Amino acid sequence: MRSFTFHPGPRLIAGAGKSEAIADLLPEGPVLFVTDAQLVELKLVDSCLQALEESGRPVTVFDQVEADPSRTTLEAAVEAGRSANARSVVGFGGGSPMDVAKLAAYLLGSGDDLDEIWGVDLAKGDRLPLVLVTTTAGTGSEATPISVITCEGGVKLAVNARPLTADWAVLDPGLTVGLPRGVTAATGIDAVVHAIEAYTSARLKNPLSDALSREALRLLTANLLTACTEPRNLQAREAMLLGAHLAGLAFSNAPVAGVHALAYPLGGLHHLPHGVTNALMLRHVLQHNSEAAREDYAELAPIVVPDCESEGSQARVALLIDRLDQLVRESGIATRLRDYGIDVSEAPTLAREAMKQTRLLVNNPCEISEADALRLYEAAW
Ligand SMILES: NC(=O)c1ccc[n+]([C@@H]2O[C@H](COP(=O)([O-])OP(=O)(O)OC[C@H]3O[C@@H](n4cnc5c(N)ncnc54)[C@H](O)[C@@H]3O)[C@@H](O)[C@H]2O)c1
Ligand SMILES: [Fe+2]
Repeated sequence: MRSFTFHPGPRLIAGAGKSEAIADLLPEGPVLFVTDAQLVELKLVDSCLQALEESGRPVTVFDQVEADPSRTTLEAAVEAGRSANARSVVGFGGGSPMDVAKLAAYLLGSGDDLDEIWGVDLAKGDRLPLVLVTTTAGTGSEATPISVITCEGGVKLAVNARPLTADWAVLDPGLTVGLPRGVTAATGIDAVVHAIEAYTSARLKNPLSDALSREALRLLTANLLTACTEPRNLQAREAMLLGAHLAGLAFSNAPVAGVHALAYPLGGLHHLPHGVTNALMLRHVLQHNSEAAREDYAELAPIVVPDCESEGSQARVALLIDRLDQLVRESGIATRLRDYGIDVSEAPTLAREAMKQTRLLVNNPCEISEADALRLYEAAW
């Protein structure tokens, strides 16, 4: 057997209504509850907060997290936790609140300086106890040791280190039935991309991450359109949450690559939702990779395209790429850069920015040079 290392994720509780059990997962003492204003307004946080309050724990709600959270927001969350003398942290929401919660729990617990820990495995201290309740399906952030923060100039930086893995993740499908169609589609495609990029991850893919990727891709592609068209279908919502979580576990071990590397500059410079940026680049990066990753893509194809097993590997890859493109379109996501007001003259800037995502580019099955990136942005335009 080829040697490999596999890191499990947090302990997991899944099921409708399970988010109300979070008080049992936390130590005594004040709790910093990190979320966003919309989830407060929608009253999605109410039953969780009530459960915490009934448990007698003082709760400080920090609800100022914006999509693609900034460093300033992270620092404000840490400050709120410090003033409240928080003994634990809950992240409640999509990737944005969960990422802030993870890093806030780490900075509060370790006392580390943020500028010393950007990158992989540089955060080695202790964090505060941490529970993540995901309300999108999703970034998989509840499963991963990664926190992504938008820094100066719109550049997304990440801390990727084991201490950021939560103690508990909670998958409660009841929380996702009100997820608007656009967010369902975008976060669902993000999860699909996690599964695919983990499966072709150049350095660290292994039999366990492969198994997780395959099952994630099956659950996600079979349920995304149902979740979009029947938002209250709990079975589809459950499958999406589980698929996104499994994809998160997969890419925690076998990190994502070119699609994310080219998606990040679009998010940083244009504030498009993370899943939309991935959807925009998916087809083009997969085509770029199609020779280098041919065997892997051909293995994934039958999961997404039934009855293609008799085809040769090249045909399977083409069918896979087409079917994924169709899934993106049917989910309602517009697929060209021009649809979002981006000018083709921006392609060189985007390509330059993408080259900064070295932590992701090294995982791609083949090289993406700046000239390649330019061509891929032009193709996506
Ligand atoms: N840590 C990781 O491993 C990881 C992986 C991928 C992406 N990310 C990061 O995650 C962030 C994006 O997260 P996201 O895509 O989950 O979106 P998000 O957290 O930014 O939320 C998007 C919008 O959806 C709303 N929303 C969330 N749940 C809802 C619900 N149940 N009902 C109604 N509205 C709801 C939010 O209020 C918000 O307005 C980006 O910053 C991205 O870089 C992190
Ligand atoms: Fe992602």
